[in-house]
Amino acid sequence: MQDWDRSEKAMGTIGLENVEQVQTILICQHKACRKAGAAAVLAAFEVALRQVDLPKPIALRPVRCLGRCGNGPMVLILPEQVWYDHVHPDEVPNLIDRL
Ligand code: FES
Repeated sequence: MQDWDRSEKAMGTIGLENVEQVQTILICQHKACRKAGAAAVLAAFEVALRQVDLPKPIALRPVRCLGRCGNGPMVLILPEQVWYDHVHPDEVPNLIDRL
């Protein structure tokens, strides 16, 4: 699922300057996403990224609201602007395979 307008808004409000150089995984940690399990998703990314040997640098950033409350946990991959909603920790290895 992609939403170009919202992703541009998210980039502006979060103040991401280096996403063109380093692929960045944004994981919303704001209220609605936290209620939906975003902390476990963030932890799953932290563990999974340590276990894989990626050919390029990847930044992992917990962020405030990405503007899609109610669809969380929300994950946004930049600079590609790929959105994932309702992410479950068990899905994280599969998402990393797609990076
Ligand atoms: S609380 Fe996560 S997108 Fe708004």
